Amino acid sequence: MAYAAFRSIGAYVPEKILTNDDLSKMVDTSDEWITKRTGIKERHIAAENEFTSDLGVKAAQKALERSGIALEDIDLVVTATISPDYFCMPSTATIIANKLGIKGATAFDITAACTGFIYALSVAKAFIESGMKKNVLIVGAEKLSAITDYTDRGTCILFGDGAGAAVISATDNKEEAIIDVHTGADGEYADLLMTPNGGTGSAHDSLDAEAGTCFMQMKGNETFKVAVRTLTKDVKEILEDNNIKSEDIKHFIPHQANLRIIKAVGEALKMREDQVVITVEKYGNTSGASIPMAINDLYESGALEKGEIMLLDAFGGGLTWGSALVPFAPLK
Ligand code: ACO
Repeated sequence: MAYAAFRSIGAYVPEKILTNDDLSKMVDTSDEWITKRTGIKERHIAAENEFTSDLGVKAAQKALERSGIALEDIDLVVTATISPDYFCMPSTATIIANKLGIKGATAFDITAACTGFIYALSVAKAFIESGMKKNVLIVGAEKLSAITDYTDRGTCILFGDGAGAAVISATDNKEEAIIDVHTGADGEYADLLMTPNGGTGSAHDSLDAEAGTCFMQMKGNETFKVAVRTLTKDVKEILEDNNIKSEDIKHFIPHQANLRIIKAVGEALKMREDQVVITVEKYGNTSGASIPMAINDLYESGALEKGEIMLLDAFGGGLTWGSALVPFAPLK
């Protein structure tokens, strides 16, 4: 049987930075409020002519370069995004593959909001273990600024743009194998996080023709409570299922939504501060890109060790959730 190994990571953030002070000139808020309630200090914003696929391509180029796997050997490209270049079609994955020069590989998008990267990881694992594919490029890429309502202080302070990518490839060495990926969803809570306009489910008269876009809406406080509960339960389950103790994890890399959520989950799991990876202060919430961007920061700081088991965990619109136990298994 083939196993799936996590070979490499890459990330990209656009140049422009939007600080809390900048936001306080746009809506009734302050650096103090945003920092206290979210931990976020700044986020990156893509240029007008810079699309989600462009962010994804730059992250993927780094991941591919570091992977030791040739471009022509990539046989599946999966993109996790809720801010695709085009709604409906073509998928952002096909655009990314084309811009990278990958021809003929299977390519599709996943819509699982902030859990998108973990869903993509589960897809890569399943395709490789079934023998259908050998080398999978997964990309979490978001231009959330394009679907953010900058008149809504409850959401616009949270989100940023960016991308992260990883190469997952087949191995017969069980030591390198992705240990487990858990994913789940509950549509009963769909209305907590939505882009209500623009799809076939939206009432025609609710469409904002002037804005011509579909903005994210969120019931922040309710989302917060469900997030802490679900994330804690999910991580406990994956650790128990695999007989791994939380103290044996060097890096817990949760989705970066809010510092208070990350800390609450870390405390509930009795994690030491040095185990919990936090990047939310400089990127905000980048949804499907946040986990690979955080892994990339670890990698570039030199803290990510070959063979260490990363614990990933996410929660997002849908509602969706997921967790994963992933050994870092670079080829070079
Ligand atoms: N600046 C100043 N005041 C504000 C702001 C702001 N930016 N936003 C809200 N307020 C006010 C509210 O109006 C409210 O005022 P009131 O008491 O007079 O009514 C007060 O602050 C408290 O509002 P809450 O919404 O209860 O604030 P809370 O502490 O819950 O923080 C936040 C809001 C930051 C959004 C938080 O709820 C949160 O992070 N929620 C979870 C987000 C999340 O995890 N999302 C999941 C993934 S996202 C995805 O899938 C794409």
